[in-house]
Amino acid sequence: MAEHILIAGKAGVGKSTTAANLAAALATAGHQVALIGYDSRWNSTATLRGTSELKPLPAWRGGDVVPLYAIGFKGALCVEAGELIAEGDVANTAHLLQHPTVVVHRPEFVIHDMAWEPDSSFVLPAAIEGIVRLYVVTSADMAAIQVVNELFAWLNTVSSIDCRFGGVVVNNLRGPFYESIIADFVSKTGTSVVVSLPHSLMVSVSDFYNQTLIESAPLSHNSFVYRKLACQVSEQTVVPRPTFLDCWELKHWAKKWGEIIAELETGVVADGSHI
Ligand SMILES: Nc1ncnc2c1ncn2[C@@H]1O[C@H](COP(=O)(O)OP(=O)(O)OP(=O)(O)O)[C@@H](O)[C@H]1O
Ligand SMILES: [Mg+2]
Repeated sequence: MAEHILIAGKAGVGKSTTAANLAAALATAGHQVALIGYDSRWNSTATLRGTSELKPLPAWRGGDVVPLYAIGFKGALCVEAGELIAEGDVANTAHLLQHPTVVVHRPEFVIHDMAWEPDSSFVLPAAIEGIVRLYVVTSADMAAIQVVNELFAWLNTVSSIDCRFGGVVVNNLRGPFYESIIADFVSKTGTSVVVSLPHSLMVSVSDFYNQTLIESAPLSHNSFVYRKLACQVSEQTVVPRPTFLDCWELKHWAKKWGEIIAELETGVVADGSHI
């Protein structure tokens, strides 16, 4: 039975980049992989499928919007499901996962690139038979961390059988200082970071080539990190399940970091003295 990997996080944090590169790294390691995107722009699998043309799934008996598919890098199955689950449509998603094109592919890993805000992630486990594991992608921005906290809060409402936790993927880091912000947040919520990816111009380069980084720049630093993530996924590395901060705790935590950043930026510490 396939293991289902949910890649969730705030809009624009790098979910599709993570999902496509993870899929490419798993496929390179010899695993059968499917990547399903739920983006209305049908662009989740763009770098994994490259020049392969998308075709409608044959004999689709789900909703009005027909999901599209292509075979991409190293035989990975790429599916663009549009906004299939955005409206919480569990039946259509289950229909997609049981579609012959998906079943015949016999994926060991089905990676779900979740769209937009976290609400759409919440219905997915109900549509899936088999192991579901959530990976949360974030940058060091407060808005992205707020979404991480929402996802952690949701994890606390479902059992560890319905949805396991894979860990936090930190993306687009622009320096060790930003890493400390996330490290502090994850330690406060009792969990850990699985991998950290720096901001890299090579990601833009691979977007222009319409390839994943794993394909276009396999020796780049970020490709090594994606292969490390693929190992963690295939070895089912156990990561502590997070707690979450309540509204007041999150505000308090954010204020502390706001003060630290302001002190570093202005050279004026909170008690008025100068650094
Ligand atoms: N580590 C990185 N370094 C530099 N650029 C990055 C990095 N990760 C992602 N990007 C860039 O950031 C942009 C957003 O990434 P991506 O599309 O993966 O985010 P997303 O979370 O899927 O967004 P959306 O919520 O809109 O689907 C892209 O242009 C991508 O190339
Ligand atoms: Mg995306």
